[in-house]
Amino acid sequence: MCGIVGAMAQRNVVPILLEGLQRLEYRGYDSAGLVVVNDKMLERVRSTGRVKELASRSADTQGQLGIAHTRWATHGAPSIKNAHPHQSRDMIAVVHNGIIENYEELRARLKSEGYEFTSETDTEVIAHLIHSHYMHGNSLLVSVQTALKELEGAYALGVIAADNPNQLICARRGSPLLLGVGIGENFVASDVSALLPVTNRVIYLEEGDVVEVERESYRIFDAHGKPVDRAVQVSEISNESVQLGNYRHYMQKEIHEQPSAISDTLESVCNSTSISPGIFGADAAATFSEVNSILILACGTSYHAGMVARYWLEEIAGIQCTVEIASEYRYRTSVPNLNALVVVLSQSGETADTMAALNHAKDMGQGNTLAICNVPESALIRASKLRFLTRAGPEIGVASTKAFTTQLVALFLLTLVLAKQRGRLVQETEFVHALRHLPSAVQKVLDMEPQIATLAERFASKHHALFLGRGMHYPIALEGALKLKEISYIHAEAYPAGELKHGPLALVDKDMPVISVAPNDTLLEKLKSNLQEVRARGGELYVFADADTLISESDGVNVIQMPEHAGYLSPVLHTIPLQLLAYYVALQKGTDVDKPRNLAKSVTVE
Ligand code: G6P
Repeated sequence: MCGIVGAMAQRNVVPILLEGLQRLEYRGYDSAGLVVVNDKMLERVRSTGRVKELASRSADTQGQLGIAHTRWATHGAPSIKNAHPHQSRDMIAVVHNGIIENYEELRARLKSEGYEFTSETDTEVIAHLIHSHYMHGNSLLVSVQTALKELEGAYALGVIAADNPNQLICARRGSPLLLGVGIGENFVASDVSALLPVTNRVIYLEEGDVVEVERESYRIFDAHGKPVDRAVQVSEISNESVQLGNYRHYMQKEIHEQPSAISDTLESVCNSTSISPGIFGADAAATFSEVNSILILACGTSYHAGMVARYWLEEIAGIQCTVEIASEYRYRTSVPNLNALVVVLSQSGETADTMAALNHAKDMGQGNTLAICNVPESALIRASKLRFLTRAGPEIGVASTKAFTTQLVALFLLTLVLAKQRGRLVQETEFVHALRHLPSAVQKVLDMEPQIATLAERFASKHHALFLGRGMHYPIALEGALKLKEISYIHAEAYPAGELKHGPLALVDKDMPVISVAPNDTLLEKLKSNLQEVRARGGELYVFADADTLISESDGVNVIQMPEHAGYLSPVLHTIPLQLLAYYVALQKGTDVDKPRNLAKSVTVE
């Protein structure tokens, strides 16, 4: 969602701001803008197109202090007037990520004080509020701090003033923001990838922090206004890791990075024969011994990973598990189990609903919390007692791929640790061996790419698709359907195959391709009967079948042979062809694969 970049240097910062915005494009946006201070004037450029268009519009803009923004519309349509930065009386300019909940009340008050509003956004109130304090003779820092006290909701902010070319104020509460520390220049951004061309030394700001940034220095104040020191960290993310290289799209690159993402995730956590609870944090062993059930909370693709884990946790570890969509859980009156382990899953670690669900669980006394996340220092990681960092590397494509399969790996490790603690892990060495073999097994599935690319040609003209799976592969069918709809805009639904006759069979005809995940497991024979039900109604079947399933090709039955069966880890392998299928169908349709319409990578608002 919205992305922020700010820079202060002794050189023109416009190219830095534009490059940063381009690198934040993956978060999702529908308009963009920047403002610089030039000769004690604010020079603002905004556009409803891509960052490239903003770049051509700002070819003549120059300044050594500036803030920039990509906006994903919440309050008010995507339009120039609603695009950030927002200004107050040509003096204060603001970029904002988050939602101000009490903006209507503030807007009414500021209007009565004579402020004119030019947008429909919640953000504009922030600009006017800061302006009202600034005009009373307060410093920019104090004006921002005072204004923040009146705001309810979430924000990451960058603020500059026309008559103050030496300071940039930034603040965060509920939305991510970090400081980039350069030599004789400093920066702010929503995430580190935006700043990699200029610095890899970053300070992750904490909740409530306000920072006065100058060229050579910065001062950080905590939520109570007290000056604080925050550690400078050297980001492990390399500039190369966020480059496209020889791939056509980030999604394709990230699909292909899965073998290395999985082995990196396993690298530091499991030696050749065993695993220990310590991989989830120093307190994990003690915490795990207290818990009697698991509650998994997540959104989107992460939710599907949680659904797979439920099968593993109950079957292998013998521990009761529920999985709930975070946006539902947070508003539902549920019965807390104080001995549950609450597991929050998120690639970004900043999904607003997942964060709120975690806080809701904690407020109800459920203190045993574990975050599984792909971003170090993310809000979710910091708010949880235990943590596990997947090492997928930066994921730029909006449709999640390698973050999903590494989440599955993390959840499998969790299953093994809990099973071991409960004395149920008789085959530990075999499981560890299977995990270690996973990267090469995934690579073999990736080698099916040309075959899947050809297959995809048959989907491009379809308007609907049905995905089927059973058991722990039902969530994989859901994930396959989600990938297809996200990037190709084909309406896709997924069902547990046993549910076919309770409704979706009515939809099946020659125009409805039915894609089935067919692992060689205990449900295979049942699945085969379900596929017959489809075939008998003239449905065209595409079956991703493990070796030895004995499902043969026939008229209307297309079998795509998977290289090997991976037992409990089979969901990881079966995910790959469905990712590739969605990718190649989207290519056929010519959609914007990495930045599908209306979607965002980091959903930092509800
Ligand atoms: C967005 C992304 C999805 C992601 C979901 C949850 O919708 O586009 O790819 O699965 O958010 O995000 P999280 O960061 O919490 O995993």
